[in-house]
Amino acid sequence: MALFFFFGAVGALIVVTLAAFLLHASRQWRRASGMATAQAKLPPGSMGLPYVGETLQLYSQNPNVFFATRQKRYGDIFKTNLLGYRCVMLASPEAAHFVLVSQAHLFKPTYPASKEQLIGPNALFFHQGGYHQRLRRLVQRSLGPDALRALVPDVDAAAAATLRAWDGGSVANTFHAMKRLSFDVGVVTIFGRRLDRGFKEELRRNYFVVERGYNSFPNRLPGSRYQKAIQARKGLRATLGEIVAARRAQRDAAGGECRLLDTFMQWRDDSGAALTNDQIADNVIGVLFAAQDTTASVLTWILKYLHDNPKLLEAVKEEQMEVYKENDGGKEPLTWAQTRGMPLTHRVIMESMRMASIISFTFREAVDDVEYNGFLIPKGWKVMPLFRNIHHSPEYFWDPQTFDPSRFMASPRPGTFLPFGSGVHACPGNELAKLEMLVLVHRLVTSYRWEVVGPSDEVAYSPFPVPRHGLKARLWSVVADDQA
Ligand code: HEM
Repeated sequence: MALFFFFGAVGALIVVTLAAFLLHASRQWRRASGMATAQAKLPPGSMGLPYVGETLQLYSQNPNVFFATRQKRYGDIFKTNLLGYRCVMLASPEAAHFVLVSQAHLFKPTYPASKEQLIGPNALFFHQGGYHQRLRRLVQRSLGPDALRALVPDVDAAAAATLRAWDGGSVANTFHAMKRLSFDVGVVTIFGRRLDRGFKEELRRNYFVVERGYNSFPNRLPGSRYQKAIQARKGLRATLGEIVAARRAQRDAAGGECRLLDTFMQWRDDSGAALTNDQIADNVIGVLFAAQDTTASVLTWILKYLHDNPKLLEAVKEEQMEVYKENDGGKEPLTWAQTRGMPLTHRVIMESMRMASIISFTFREAVDDVEYNGFLIPKGWKVMPLFRNIHHSPEYFWDPQTFDPSRFMASPRPGTFLPFGSGVHACPGNELAKLEMLVLVHRLVTSYRWEVVGPSDEVAYSPFPVPRHGLKARLWSVVADDQA
């Protein structure tokens, strides 16, 4: 009998130990895989009022202050409720890496349906998995080093045309001028030089109506901006259909060019199936959108920062004049190799992107209950890595509110500088954007002078931060003076 109890007790002990071990192993596994354990608790933070959450607080103040005060109060991970969505904000490089890179499969891209409708549901940034990877590879191929090398003369020509159109000393909205440049570069990158002028003007007209609607309240009443944008989107789609049909008809007229549209049109899967016209159109519109206001906002900030730092401007001018002289006083076009050899200008660009942090954060949605550092991110909640908070943290960037390109003499700590995001959805256009900035700065400082008109320290959100009124400035050419 005693023996029976003894073996019974040992058996029970083994079962309990095994169960505890399995529980522990399962917790460890769930932790390692990012899945939530029962101990995980919601992050600190306030969910605000019923329904509206903290939306009013966000919109009634500078959004940077909204995020920074909460980070100070709650730490690097906190919860809130915005526009009826329950959100977890993440303000550390490790947390951003967790969401965007190491556990990216647990977080899907998420956009309001109204915006998805305007861009088109087949655009790559709404997708995850095989379709996304396929499309992304095509976009990356068209924006890789070989493609960019061939694009330098086009970007150079677009920058020169933008500045010529502004020249004359009259006051203009810098952001609008830079939008002209980023649109022209976007178009030549996607369609190449052989795009018919009529098609280009048609695209421009409809694109800007779609863009206005994209940034407006999605109200479908007749005459509303959103409704007009829906109509203009149909116009864009029709024009793209005509361009594709014309290219199919004149297959051999590419003249050696293979730009993004050609890449989309030529792609076939293993069974020989091509992309549909809707998939092509949605992705063309998607890339045009992704390339537009982003690049134009950063360019606007570069003009402001250079203007506000005259000594730095002189040093940049000196660097660029070397290239200008090499190119026979700007008569020869810039080369790819020359754009790789502008270290100071490159640092100015990096610092402008850090300071302005025009993409302050991005959105994902948890596809399951996820645990991060003991905190629960429930399935369906939005997750927002806060790039700006990371870029403006003294922990990673000393004296973060001071514009100082010299900080980029050394590489930033890995994962702390994310102007182009990170992981599977990181920006495939980053090198093109930087090329555009280098070329514009070259043309600007070697051949023009500019002067900001009126106060420029207030910031407006359109939706990216830009100096209020788009940075009013006048610009005039000095080429004749320099040559004299
Ligand atoms: C200064 C200019 C730019 C900035 C700051 C910028 C920033 C970003 C960021 C942060 C993302 C990732 C968003 C996320 O993870 O949710 C992104 C994605 C993307 N960007 Fe850019 N971008 C710029 C210019 C461009 C240009 C010039 C192009 C194309 C010609 C482009 C095309 C794209 C595309 C297609 C995606 C989606 C990638 C995907 O989902 O796989 N961007 N960009």
